Amino acid sequence: MHDFFMNSSMQNSVKSGLFFLSWLKTVAPEYSGYKYLVKTTDDMHDYVGKIFDKHRETFTPGSPRDVIDCYLEQLNNTTDPKSTFFGATGEKNSQSAIIEIFEAGMITSSHTLNWLTLYLIHHQHVQAKLHEEIDRVVGKNRDPTLMDKPKMPYTEAVMQELLRITSLVPLGCSHELLHDIEFHEYYLPKGLLLIPNIYHVHHDKKTWGDPENFRPERFLNEDESRDIQSNALVAFQAGKRQCLGEPLAKDVLFLYITKIFQHLHAFPDPSNPEPNFDYDDGLLLIAKPCRVVMKSR
Ligand code: HEM
Repeated sequence: MHDFFMNSSMQNSVKSGLFFLSWLKTVAPEYSGYKYLVKTTDDMHDYVGKIFDKHRETFTPGSPRDVIDCYLEQLNNTTDPKSTFFGATGEKNSQSAIIEIFEAGMITSSHTLNWLTLYLIHHQHVQAKLHEEIDRVVGKNRDPTLMDKPKMPYTEAVMQELLRITSLVPLGCSHELLHDIEFHEYYLPKGLLLIPNIYHVHHDKKTWGDPENFRPERFLNEDESRDIQSNALVAFQAGKRQCLGEPLAKDVLFLYITKIFQHLHAFPDPSNPEPNFDYDDGLLLIAKPCRVVMKSR
Protein backbone atom coordinates (compact mmCIF):
# COMPACT_ATOMS: atom_id res chain seq x y z
CA MET A 1 0.00 0.00 0.00
CA HIS A 2 2.77 2.43 0.94
CA ASP A 3 4.42 1.46 -2.29
CA PHE A 4 1.30 2.31 -4.29
CA PHE A 5 1.01 5.82 -2.81
CA MET A 6 4.71 6.50 -3.22
CA ASN A 7 4.49 5.35 -6.82
CA SER A 8 1.46 7.52 -7.60
CA SER A 9 2.98 10.58 -5.90
CA MET A 10 6.10 10.24 -8.05
CA GLN A 11 4.02 9.72 -11.22
CA ASN A 12 2.08 12.90 -10.34
CA SER A 13 5.18 14.96 -9.69
CA VAL A 14 6.38 14.28 -13.23
CA LYS A 15 2.94 15.00 -14.73
CA SER A 16 2.72 18.35 -12.93
CA GLY A 17 6.27 19.36 -13.92
CA LEU A 18 7.55 19.41 -10.30
CA PHE A 19 10.16 16.78 -11.14
CA PHE A 20 11.86 19.21 -13.54
CA LEU A 21 10.89 22.62 -12.07
CA SER A 22 11.58 22.33 -8.37
CA TRP A 23 10.45 25.95 -7.70
CA LEU A 24 6.86 24.76 -8.25
CA LYS A 25 7.01 23.44 -4.69
CA THR A 26 7.02 27.05 -3.44
CA VAL A 27 4.47 28.62 -5.79
CA ALA A 28 2.04 25.69 -6.05
CA PRO A 29 2.76 23.20 -3.25
CA GLU A 30 -0.68 21.58 -3.44
CA TYR A 31 -1.31 21.64 -7.20
CA SER A 32 2.21 20.49 -8.13
CA GLY A 33 1.81 17.44 -5.89
CA TYR A 34 4.70 18.56 -3.65
CA LYS A 35 2.64 18.23 -0.44
CA TYR A 36 1.48 14.76 -1.43
CA LEU A 37 5.05 13.75 -2.26
CA VAL A 38 6.29 14.99 1.14
CA LYS A 39 3.49 13.15 2.92
CA THR A 40 4.09 9.83 1.14
CA THR A 41 7.85 10.18 1.72
CA ASP A 42 7.24 10.83 5.46
CA ASP A 43 4.93 7.80 5.60
CA MET A 44 7.62 5.65 4.01
CA HIS A 45 10.17 6.91 6.55
CA ASP A 46 7.81 6.02 9.42
CA TYR A 47 7.33 2.56 7.96
CA VAL A 48 11.03 1.90 7.32
CA GLY A 49 11.97 3.58 10.63
CA LYS A 50 9.96 0.90 12.46
CA ILE A 51 11.83 -1.81 10.56
CA PHE A 52 15.13 -0.17 11.62
CA ASP A 53 13.91 -0.12 15.26
CA LYS A 54 12.97 -3.82 15.11
CA HIS A 55 16.41 -4.65 13.73
CA ARG A 56 18.06 -2.66 16.52
CA GLU A 57 16.36 -4.81 19.17
CA THR A 58 18.19 -7.95 18.00
CA PHE A 59 21.25 -6.45 16.31
CA THR A 60 24.67 -7.93 17.15
CA PRO A 61 27.57 -5.60 16.25
CA GLY A 62 29.99 -7.30 13.84
CA SER A 63 27.42 -9.86 12.61
CA PRO A 64 25.21 -8.16 10.03
CA ARG A 65 22.24 -10.25 8.92
CA ASP A 66 21.17 -8.02 6.06
CA VAL A 67 21.61 -4.60 4.48
CA ILE A 68 19.77 -2.80 7.31
CA ASP A 69 22.20 -4.29 9.84
CA CYS A 70 25.07 -3.00 7.68
CA TYR A 71 23.60 0.49 7.90
CA LEU A 72 23.14 0.15 11.69
CA GLU A 73 26.79 -0.89 12.00
CA GLN A 74 27.88 2.15 10.01
CA LEU A 75 25.60 4.51 11.98
CA ASN A 76 26.96 3.15 15.29
CA ASN A 77 30.57 3.56 14.18
CA THR A 78 30.28 7.09 12.78
CA THR A 79 31.65 9.86 14.99
CA ASP A 80 32.50 12.45 12.33
CA PRO A 81 29.70 15.08 12.34
CA LYS A 82 30.46 15.79 8.66
CA SER A 83 29.70 12.20 7.63
CA THR A 84 26.38 11.43 5.89
CA PHE A 85 25.99 8.59 8.41
CA PHE A 86 26.17 10.90 11.46
CA GLY A 87 23.32 11.30 13.95
CA ALA A 88 19.64 11.76 13.12
CA THR A 89 20.43 12.90 9.57
CA GLY A 90 22.54 9.77 9.11
CA GLU A 91 19.61 7.63 10.22
CA LYS A 92 17.30 9.42 7.78
CA ASN A 93 19.84 9.04 4.95
CA SER A 94 20.11 5.32 5.63
CA GLN A 95 16.33 4.94 5.59
CA SER A 96 16.22 6.88 2.31
CA ALA A 97 18.72 4.49 0.74
CA ILE A 98 16.59 1.49 1.72
CA ILE A 99 13.40 3.18 0.47
CA GLU A 100 15.10 4.07 -2.80
CA ILE A 101 16.36 0.55 -3.42
CA PHE A 102 12.93 -0.99 -2.84
CA GLU A 103 11.01 1.72 -4.66
CA ALA A 104 13.31 1.79 -7.64
CA GLY A 105 13.58 -1.99 -7.72
CA MET A 106 10.08 -3.30 -7.23
CA ILE A 107 8.04 -0.90 -9.33
CA THR A 108 10.36 -1.03 -12.32
CA SER A 109 10.69 -4.81 -12.43
CA SER A 110 6.98 -5.49 -11.94
CA HIS A 111 5.89 -3.00 -14.63
CA THR A 112 8.46 -4.43 -17.03
CA LEU A 113 6.89 -7.87 -16.53
CA ASN A 114 3.42 -6.42 -17.19
CA TRP A 115 4.69 -4.96 -20.45
CA LEU A 116 6.30 -8.28 -21.37
CA THR A 117 3.00 -10.10 -20.98
CA LEU A 118 1.23 -7.49 -23.10
CA TYR A 119 3.81 -7.71 -25.89
CA LEU A 120 3.88 -11.50 -25.86
CA ILE A 121 0.11 -11.95 -26.09
CA HIS A 122 0.12 -9.81 -29.23
CA HIS A 123 3.31 -11.32 -30.70
CA GLN A 124 2.61 -15.04 -30.55
CA HIS A 125 5.52 -15.82 -32.92
CA VAL A 126 7.93 -14.27 -30.37
CA GLN A 127 6.32 -16.24 -27.56
CA ALA A 128 6.65 -19.45 -29.64
CA LYS A 129 10.42 -18.84 -30.13
CA LEU A 130 10.78 -18.06 -26.42
CA HIS A 131 8.97 -21.30 -25.51
CA GLU A 132 11.15 -23.24 -27.96
CA GLU A 133 14.39 -21.92 -26.40
CA ILE A 134 13.21 -22.55 -22.83
CA ASP A 135 12.14 -26.11 -23.73
CA ARG A 136 15.43 -26.84 -25.50
CA VAL A 137 17.79 -25.42 -22.87
CA VAL A 138 15.91 -25.87 -19.58
CA GLY A 139 13.17 -28.41 -20.36
CA LYS A 140 10.19 -28.91 -18.08
CA ASN A 141 11.69 -30.96 -15.30
CA ARG A 142 13.84 -28.43 -13.47
CA ASP A 143 13.83 -24.74 -12.59
CA PRO A 144 15.73 -22.32 -14.81
CA THR A 145 18.89 -20.89 -13.24
CA LEU A 146 21.24 -18.04 -14.06
CA MET A 147 23.67 -20.65 -15.46
CA ASP A 148 21.20 -21.07 -18.36
CA LYS A 149 21.42 -17.38 -19.29
CA PRO A 150 24.49 -17.53 -21.59
CA LYS A 151 22.86 -20.40 -23.52
CA MET A 152 19.63 -18.46 -24.15
CA PRO A 153 20.33 -15.60 -26.58
CA TYR A 154 16.72 -15.36 -27.76
CA THR A 155 15.41 -14.85 -24.21
CA GLU A 156 18.13 -12.23 -23.69
CA ALA A 157 17.12 -10.52 -26.95
CA VAL A 158 13.45 -10.47 -25.88
CA MET A 159 14.48 -8.77 -22.64
CA GLN A 160 16.61 -6.18 -24.44
CA GLU A 161 13.90 -5.46 -27.01
CA LEU A 162 11.38 -5.08 -24.21
CA LEU A 163 13.61 -2.59 -22.35
CA ARG A 164 14.05 -0.65 -25.61
CA ILE A 165 10.49 -0.50 -26.87
CA THR A 166 8.85 0.18 -23.50
CA SER A 167 11.49 2.70 -22.29
CA LEU A 168 9.99 2.36 -18.85
CA VAL A 169 11.74 5.45 -17.43
CA PRO A 170 11.28 7.64 -20.55
CA LEU A 171 13.10 10.73 -19.27
CA GLY A 172 15.40 8.87 -16.87
CA CYS A 173 16.54 10.82 -13.83
CA SER A 174 17.61 14.44 -14.24
CA HIS A 175 21.10 15.51 -13.19
CA GLU A 176 22.30 18.99 -12.30
CA LEU A 177 25.69 20.07 -13.64
CA LEU A 178 28.20 20.74 -10.86
CA HIS A 179 30.65 22.54 -13.17
CA ASP A 180 30.58 24.43 -16.47
CA ILE A 181 31.40 22.04 -19.31
CA GLU A 182 31.83 22.09 -23.06
CA PHE A 183 30.29 19.21 -24.92
CA HIS A 184 30.81 19.08 -28.71
CA GLU A 185 29.79 22.58 -29.81
CA TYR A 186 27.68 23.26 -26.72
CA TYR A 187 28.56 25.28 -23.65
CA LEU A 188 26.67 23.94 -20.64
CA PRO A 189 26.75 26.13 -17.50
CA LYS A 190 26.95 24.94 -13.90
CA GLY A 191 23.49 24.41 -12.40
CA LEU A 192 21.89 23.32 -15.70
CA LEU A 193 19.41 20.49 -15.37
CA LEU A 194 20.11 17.69 -17.83
CA ILE A 195 17.10 15.55 -18.75
CA PRO A 196 18.02 12.49 -20.81
CA ASN A 197 15.43 11.61 -23.44
CA ILE A 198 15.78 7.84 -23.19
CA TYR A 199 12.52 7.28 -25.07
CA HIS A 200 13.86 9.20 -28.07
CA VAL A 201 17.17 7.31 -28.09
CA HIS A 202 15.21 4.04 -28.10
CA HIS A 203 12.85 5.15 -30.88
CA ASP A 204 15.28 6.88 -33.22
CA LYS A 205 14.71 5.64 -36.79
CA LYS A 206 18.35 6.36 -37.72
CA THR A 207 19.55 3.85 -35.13
CA TRP A 208 16.88 1.18 -35.20
CA GLY A 209 15.26 1.39 -38.66
CA ASP A 210 11.84 0.16 -37.49
CA PRO A 211 11.70 1.25 -33.82
CA GLU A 212 7.91 0.88 -33.65
CA ASN A 213 8.12 -2.91 -34.17
CA PHE A 214 8.68 -5.37 -31.32
CA ARG A 215 11.44 -7.40 -32.97
CA PRO A 216 13.89 -9.16 -30.62
CA GLU A 217 15.89 -10.37 -33.65
CA ARG A 218 17.46 -6.89 -33.89
CA PHE A 219 19.51 -7.91 -30.83
CA LEU A 220 20.75 -11.17 -32.40
CA ASN A 221 23.57 -11.91 -34.82
CA GLU A 222 22.78 -13.22 -38.30
CA ASP A 223 22.35 -16.91 -37.49
CA GLU A 224 20.66 -16.01 -34.16
CA SER A 225 23.28 -17.95 -32.21
CA ARG A 226 24.20 -15.07 -29.91
CA ASP A 227 22.79 -11.79 -28.69
CA ILE A 228 24.31 -8.40 -29.50
CA GLN A 229 24.72 -5.56 -27.01
CA SER A 230 23.91 -2.09 -28.33
CA ASN A 231 25.30 1.18 -26.95
CA ALA A 232 22.00 2.78 -27.96
CA LEU A 233 20.12 0.70 -25.38
CA VAL A 234 20.20 2.98 -22.34
CA ALA A 235 17.18 1.85 -20.32
CA PHE A 236 19.29 2.10 -17.15
CA GLN A 237 20.79 5.45 -18.21
CA ALA A 238 24.59 5.88 -18.36
CA GLY A 239 27.50 7.26 -16.40
CA LYS A 240 28.43 7.30 -12.74
CA ARG A 241 24.85 7.36 -11.46
CA GLN A 242 23.64 4.64 -13.83
CA CYS A 243 20.97 2.40 -12.28
CA LEU A 244 22.43 0.66 -9.29
CA GLY A 245 20.08 -2.29 -9.75
CA GLU A 246 20.81 -3.06 -13.42
CA PRO A 247 22.53 -6.45 -12.92
CA LEU A 248 19.91 -7.51 -10.37
CA ALA A 249 17.04 -6.33 -12.60
CA LYS A 250 18.40 -8.30 -15.57
CA ASP A 251 18.86 -11.48 -13.51
CA VAL A 252 15.44 -11.20 -11.88
CA LEU A 253 13.72 -10.53 -15.21
CA PHE A 254 15.51 -13.50 -16.78
CA LEU A 255 14.41 -15.85 -13.98
CA TYR A 256 10.81 -14.60 -14.02
CA ILE A 257 10.51 -14.79 -17.81
CA THR A 258 11.96 -18.28 -18.07
CA LYS A 259 10.04 -19.65 -15.09
CA ILE A 260 6.67 -18.16 -16.11
CA PHE A 261 6.88 -19.13 -19.78
CA GLN A 262 8.34 -22.56 -19.03
CA HIS A 263 4.88 -23.46 -17.74
CA LEU A 264 2.46 -20.95 -19.22
CA HIS A 265 1.22 -19.74 -22.58
CA ALA A 266 -0.29 -16.23 -22.55
CA PHE A 267 -3.19 -15.21 -24.82
CA PRO A 268 -5.29 -12.05 -25.20
CA ASP A 269 -8.65 -11.99 -23.45
CA PRO A 270 -11.05 -13.43 -26.12
CA SER A 271 -13.72 -10.88 -25.15
CA ASN A 272 -11.28 -8.01 -25.76
CA PRO A 273 -8.60 -9.30 -28.14
CA GLU A 274 -7.54 -5.99 -29.77
CA PRO A 275 -3.99 -4.85 -28.89
CA ASN A 276 -3.95 -1.84 -26.59
CA PHE A 277 -0.54 -0.43 -25.83
CA ASP A 278 -1.85 2.73 -24.11
CA TYR A 279 -0.03 3.77 -20.98
CA ASP A 280 -0.12 6.10 -18.02
CA ASP A 281 2.58 8.69 -18.60
CA GLY A 282 4.72 9.96 -15.72
CA LEU A 283 8.04 9.06 -14.14
CA LEU A 284 7.35 5.62 -15.61
CA LEU A 285 5.35 4.54 -18.63
CA ILE A 286 2.84 2.16 -17.06
CA ALA A 287 0.78 -0.17 -19.23
CA LYS A 288 -2.97 0.18 -18.68
CA PRO A 289 -4.47 -2.79 -16.81
CA CYS A 290 -5.65 -5.52 -19.15
CA ARG A 291 -6.94 -9.07 -18.82
CA VAL A 292 -4.93 -11.96 -20.25
CA VAL A 293 -5.58 -15.68 -20.41
CA MET A 294 -2.81 -17.93 -19.10
CA LYS A 295 -2.96 -21.61 -20.11
CA SER A 296 -0.64 -24.29 -18.79
CA ARG A 297 1.59 -25.89 -21.36
C1 HEM B 1 13.70 -2.73 -15.55
C2 HEM B 1 14.21 -2.35 -14.41
C3 HEM B 1 14.87 -1.02 -14.13
C4 HEM B 1 15.01 0.10 -14.92
C5 HEM B 1 14.51 0.31 -16.35
C6 HEM B 1 15.73 1.09 -14.14
C7 HEM B 1 16.09 2.34 -14.60
C8 HEM B 1 16.78 3.28 -13.86
C9 HEM B 1 17.19 4.59 -14.33
C10 HEM B 1 16.93 5.13 -15.74
C11 HEM B 1 17.82 5.22 -13.32
C12 HEM B 1 18.45 6.63 -13.34
C13 HEM B 1 19.96 6.52 -13.41
C14 HEM B 1 20.67 7.84 -13.42
O1 HEM B 1 20.24 8.76 -12.70
O2 HEM B 1 21.66 8.00 -14.14
C15 HEM B 1 17.83 4.32 -12.18
C16 HEM B 1 18.38 4.61 -10.94
C17 HEM B 1 18.33 3.77 -9.86
N1 HEM B 1 17.87 2.48 -9.84
FE1 HEM B 1 17.03 1.49 -11.40
N2 HEM B 1 16.01 0.55 -12.91
C18 HEM B 1 15.52 -0.73 -12.86
C19 HEM B 1 15.62 -1.61 -11.81
C20 HEM B 1 16.19 -1.35 -10.60
C21 HEM B 1 16.34 -2.29 -9.51
C22 HEM B 1 15.92 -3.77 -9.56
C23 HEM B 1 16.91 -1.61 -8.46
C24 HEM B 1 17.31 -2.05 -7.07
C25 HEM B 1 17.30 -3.20 -6.58
C26 HEM B 1 17.13 -0.26 -8.91
C27 HEM B 1 17.69 0.73 -8.13
C28 HEM B 1 18.02 2.00 -8.56
C29 HEM B 1 18.59 3.03 -7.72
C30 HEM B 1 18.90 2.90 -6.21
C31 HEM B 1 18.81 4.13 -8.53
C32 HEM B 1 19.41 5.48 -8.13
C33 HEM B 1 20.91 5.38 -8.34
C34 HEM B 1 21.63 6.68 -8.03
O3 HEM B 1 21.01 7.73 -8.05
O4 HEM B 1 22.83 6.62 -7.77
N3 HEM B 1 16.69 -0.14 -10.20
N4 HEM B 1 17.19 3.15 -12.54
